[in-house]
Order: sequence, then structure tokens, then C-alpha cells
Amino acid sequence: MTLIRRSLLAAAFAAVAAPAMAQAYPTRTVTIIVPFAAGGPTDAVARLIAEAMGRDLGQTVVVENVGGAGGTIGADRVAKARPDGYTVLLHHIGMATIPTLYRRLPYEPVNAFAPIGLVSPVPMTVIARKDHPAANFQELIAWIREKKEDVNLGNAGLGAASQLCGTLLQFLLQTPVTTVPFRGTGPAMTELLGGRIDVMCDQTTNTTEQIRAGAVKAYAVTVPSRLAALPDVPTTAEVGMPDLAVTIWHGLYAPRGTPAPVIERLSRALQVALRDDKVVSRFAELGTTPEPQERATPDAHRAHWMAEIAKWRPVLQAANQFAD
Ligand code: MLT
Repeated sequence: MTLIRRSLLAAAFAAVAAPAMAQAYPTRTVTIIVPFAAGGPTDAVARLIAEAMGRDLGQTVVVENVGGAGGTIGADRVAKARPDGYTVLLHHIGMATIPTLYRRLPYEPVNAFAPIGLVSPVPMTVIARKDHPAANFQELIAWIREKKEDVNLGNAGLGAASQLCGTLLQFLLQTPVTTVPFRGTGPAMTELLGGRIDVMCDQTTNTTEQIRAGAVKAYAVTVPSRLAALPDVPTTAEVGMPDLAVTIWHGLYAPRGTPAPVIERLSRALQVALRDDKVVSRFAELGTTPEPQERATPDAHRAHWMAEIAKWRPVLQAANQFAD
């Protein structure tokens, strides 16, 4: 068979079969790739929406953790997955910082993906091991300024939200510390609970319960208003560091080339999940909220994503921290 005939047949098949496949979608399990270790904040968000999306889709939605390299290994997995709607990525603000932080990647950090919708904006908390001597934020930053490289700050690697917040903190203090990267802030939290690292800036979806249990010390939240879930933790503005302001938005992505009807079906399932009572109440317990329905759409997600890339590029270039 000549190449032309093969190409024509392939095109004809795609023209006929793809819409039919999209009509029937989904007919089997959908996998959400989380580019960080299990037990962390990104994982927590993914597992909550996966269960609710599965109910709407009528298929099992599983979460697979593919950690490492600040979330780029998991993103690469989805960038190279079949564009059929059965492998999607739940990622966060890292999708806006990685295009600047990584100048050589095995995948195209923007064009390899098709946005499905925004999921949840998550505040961050500045926390320390529970036996830390600092009684408040001012004492904590004085301690960091004194100890410098003797401070062990945990994060989830270059491209992680915890790394972004930690970089901002060091930039604002003009004090470099020792950063300790993990495959996610789930494992990092284990080390903090054990007193083997000193401080971390991590999302409320991973820290709220530890703070409430007194298992770690909390010094500030990185959003303009105090959180109902953590009413006793002051904002960074209240403690004199208003520029330490960062909210970690999350989005769902399919590989580029996924048929539009499949993207739309996934977006509808995401919107249903974000209205689900269990998701809404659990998000509230963890200091976050679902994105409004109109933002859980491909167009709104793309617009926010592009704006965030443009916002963070000069900040990261000024910090001069690149992966390669
Ligand atoms: C991050 O720091 O980007 C996340 O907290 C990592 C994670 O979800 O484990």
C-alpha cells in the first residue's frame, strides 16, 4: 500500500472514528497523573475530584503518582500519552513556572497540553518543626537570618509550589538557606514531623490537619485574609511580609490533540465534581475552595494559565534560579 493511500486511510479513519470514539467516551478507567508523591497536597486534591468525576463519568477514575524533578516527570508522562482522554494531568502553579525554570525539557511545557479546567486555589502556610524555638513570624525570620545555610527548608523540587514559596521567602529575606528537595511535600512533611528538617512553605491541603494537631508550628498564611480553617494563623501581611503572597491554583490537562468533545466531557465532569458536597466540605476543611463553574472550563483555564506564565517569568528571572 502506498504511503499516500495509507495517509488517506488514516485521515479517513480519524475523521470517522474519532467522533464516534468521542461520542462513546469514556468506556474504561481514566487515570489522573499527579506529578508528586502520594500523601501530598496535589494528591489530596486529585483524589477528591477523581472520586466525584468517576461518579459523573460512570467509569473508575484512578490517581497515579509520578513524582520527581519538581513535577516535570509526571507532566512529561501526560505530554506523551495517547490523546484519547484516558490519561490526564492534575498539576498546579508549576505549569506556569516550569516554562521559565526549565530551559531544556523532554516535552513542550505549554503546547503539549490541552487545558480542561481550573480546580482549586490553595493557600500556603509557613510552618516549622513543632519544637522550633521561634514563638512568632518575626522570631522565625530572625532565626533564619541568623542560621542561614544551617536552616533546612524542605520542598518538592524546582517547579514545585513549596519551592516557589521558599524562593520568595529567601528573596525577601535576602538570606539563602539549605533547601532539601523531595518527590513531594508528603514525604517532606514526614521529615518535618520527625524534626529532620526545620521549615517549609506548604499548601493548606497538606498542613491544616498537622497544624490543628499541634504536630507542626504555623507562623503565617500567604493569602490576604485569615482562613476559617486556621483562624489563629496570621496572614503574611499582618506579620509584616505582604510580598510573601502566593496562592497555588490547580488545573486539569489532557495531552494536546485530545478530541474537543472528550475535553468538554471531562470539563463537565470536573464541574460536577466541584459542586459535589463531599468535595466542597473537604476542601473547606483543608483551607481551600472549588473554583467557580465558569473557571472550570478549557478557555478560562487557558487564559489564566497564560497570564500566570507572563506574571511569574520576570519574578523567576530576577531570582535567577533555573533548573538547567
Ligand atoms: C508542591 O510543593 O508543589 C506540592 O506541595 C508538592 C506535592 O503536592 O507533594
